[in-house]
Amino acid sequence: MNDISRILLVDDSPTNLEVLSSYLKPLGYALLFATSGERAIEVAQAARPDLILLDIMLPGIDGYETCRRIHQALGQQEAPVLFLSALDAVANKVKGFESGGVDYISKPFQKEELIARVKTHLELFAVRRENRRYAAEMESLAQQRARALVHADRLATLGTLSAGVAHEINNPATFISVGIQTMARLWNDIEPVIAEKCRQDPAQQPRLAFAIKNIPDLIANIKSGVSRIQKVVKALRTYAHAGASIKERCDIGECINDALDLCHNRLKYAITVEKNGMEALAPIYADAQHIVQVFVNLFTNAADAMNNGGNGEKKGILRIGVSNENGMVRVIIDDSGNGIATDHLQRIWDPFFTTKSPESGTGLGLSITRDIIVEHGGTIKAENRPEGGARFTVSLPRLETAI
Ligand SMILES: Nc1ncnc2c1ncn2[C@@H]1O[C@H](COP(=O)(O)OP(=O)(O)O)[C@@H](O)[C@H]1O
Ligand SMILES: [Mg+2]
Repeated sequence: MNDISRILLVDDSPTNLEVLSSYLKPLGYALLFATSGERAIEVAQAARPDLILLDIMLPGIDGYETCRRIHQALGQQEAPVLFLSALDAVANKVKGFESGGVDYISKPFQKEELIARVKTHLELFAVRRENRRYAAEMESLAQQRARALVHADRLATLGTLSAGVAHEINNPATFISVGIQTMARLWNDIEPVIAEKCRQDPAQQPRLAFAIKNIPDLIANIKSGVSRIQKVVKALRTYAHAGASIKERCDIGECINDALDLCHNRLKYAITVEKNGMEALAPIYADAQHIVQVFVNLFTNAADAMNNGGNGEKKGILRIGVSNENGMVRVIIDDSGNGIATDHLQRIWDPFFTTKSPESGTGLGLSITRDIIVEHGGTIKAENRPEGGARFTVSLPRLETAI
């Protein structure tokens, strides 16, 4: 709006152009000139003026036609045309409006009137352009929001689905777990028999010796693998369980561990996890599924912050400190990422605020996290640590304070 307005003056009479120029130049406008319709179209296309003062009687194509063609090329919104003419008949004015003009000034023009109308139309044009810009901005914002919602919805569906998948995995995992425990017991019986055979039949010795040496390790590996599957499945079922929110006595340490199990994949390569004070924590009164969701959000954010800043080197540290404080259980989560830009510190809680690409962030995590914490009567805050990285502090009322 503060740009200098550009006005295209079209008249076949140089004298008229001179007069118009003498009125408008002192007002600081940038003036462009054309003495024919054809030339006016060229100039309008090249310079995109904010207003066109257009004579009707022109050599070659007349003003009406010129107006139509300019609008065809630039769009009617983009080039308001103010007709100038000695033809004062109503029919001419009507024709002027019909061909797309926004106003009509009769010649010989009166200086004050001309200036007043030019000013009015420039202002209108500027306001309209600004409105269009806002409208376009709003539309693109709405589209962005819609995309984010679709993504959030997909994630929500995934959550519901994963409850089913977790259930499907749980049964075979139980078979494997029971099977391997039985096998471990049987191996204790079998091992001495094989060892004896080994002694009796030295020809078989290398293969049997190999079995005796490796089978216990194999069994241990399978046991630890299946126990890991069961842990993740349990966490996934708590997290994804699609039921009404139920608050009950709950152990925040268990929620943290479940969340760490769920985020294991994100944390295992580049990040060392340290936990302090997990023993002797007072119980809280909470919906465990929601509390796990809170920690999953905070841990994945920390993982994002450290993976981006960490150049893939194993140098991220996620430190989780838990303590009982004045009727609350407090969890402090420190990461060694790049921290949060100062002017983002307030905005990170806004729904849809994200600094990540649309594929990796929805901007919903922290707003949901805060809602959950507030709904539990707790508090959450974010700050940057002086030594670098972000700190999130979550406080939740202890069971006896909450009930
Ligand atoms: N631990 C963190 N370190 C640095 N920035 C963070 C951290 N946690 C959150 N943020 C910032 O807050 C923004 C919003 O987080 P969130 O609401 O979880 O949405 P998303 O993770 O989808 O971007 C992130 O995009 C990021 O800019
Ligand atoms: Mg997030």
